[in-house]
Amino acid sequence: AASTRYEAESAPAVCTGAIESNWAGYSGSGFCNGANAAGAHAQFTVTAGAGGAATLRIRFANGTTGSRPAGLTVNGAAAGTLSFEGTGAWSTWQTATVTVPVNSGANTVRLNPTTSAGLPNLDYLDA
Ligand code: GCU
Repeated sequence: AASTRYEAESAPAVCTGAIESNWAGYSGSGFCNGANAAGAHAQFTVTAGAGGAATLRIRFANGTTGSRPAGLTVNGAAAGTLSFEGTGAWSTWQTATVTVPVNSGANTVRLNPTTSAGLPNLDYLDA
């Protein structure tokens, strides 16, 4: 099935930080610049037509040389980790892909940064 795009700046997505648009190349009207703190999460509500494995494609930019690792939860259950390595510039966006279990219907997908650097800038999640 065709994927759905969930913009990080659009409710019901949650951005623990600020919605900004000062770096080029984003989709929609901006991106989530999460606070630089462990646990400063971003959250998406992903609607699945059927339960099972779903592929999530998360577009991000990290203009630093350090990774910005995050744990992923789906409906509160740990569902993997993402490293969010440096992309070379804040205006250079890359896509991280992860496969997670989802339920039929609405699913709460949360990215929890595990270091004091927080999350990279987040553009959207495709699922
Ligand atoms: C810079 C950059 C932000 C980014 C931040 C960070 O301030 O302009 O877009 O979010 O660094 O380190 O997270």
